Amino acid sequence: MSSFQIIVGSMLGGSEYVAEACEETLIALGHQVDVHLQPTFAQISNENQTWLICTSTHGAGDYPDNIQTFITDLEKSDQDLSSINFLTIGIGDSSYDTFCYAAKKINNILISKGCTEITALLTLDMSEDIDPEERAQHWLNENKDLL
Ligand SMILES: Cc1cc2nc3c(=O)[nH]c(=O)nc-3n(C[C@H](O)[C@H](O)[C@H](O)COP(=O)(O)O)c2cc1C
Repeated sequence: MSSFQIIVGSMLGGSEYVAEACEETLIALGHQVDVHLQPTFAQISNENQTWLICTSTHGAGDYPDNIQTFITDLEKSDQDLSSINFLTIGIGDSSYDTFCYAAKKINNILISKGCTEITALLTLDMSEDIDPEERAQHWLNENKDLL
């Protein structure tokens, strides 16, 4: 059993649905889960935690407004974050050159902080006719032995 902190970056709510679907799957797999829709770095547990980042991209490759401060504080932090395991789900639209750029940037920040990436980032393309919640749940189940 792992302790998950799901950190959600969303402007229009789509990523929140994906995060809630992930929460459901992780609980069904026996994990403990907290979801942060308005993430505050200082309030999110980091010791021996698994962080699941679930974020869209806005502007031209920018972070959603609700995670800007979280990212700034994460980048500034001098805490030892090396016990964090993480996975990232990017929600975006492949018609943008900056497809899922916010998720890719967070992924790189976490690696630079010494956190361990459990499996490669999942990107969900909202311009395709897919069920993003179902795809995210399938991805977690595929990787369940690593969680
Ligand atoms: C103004 C605007 C800018 C966007 N810019 C990007 C972008 O740079 N890269 C990308 O992959 N998707 C981009 N998107 C697509 C969104 O990430 C996509 O619609 C996503 O589903 C929104 O998720 P949310 O509802 O959680 O905010 C943009 C969408 C809008 C409306």
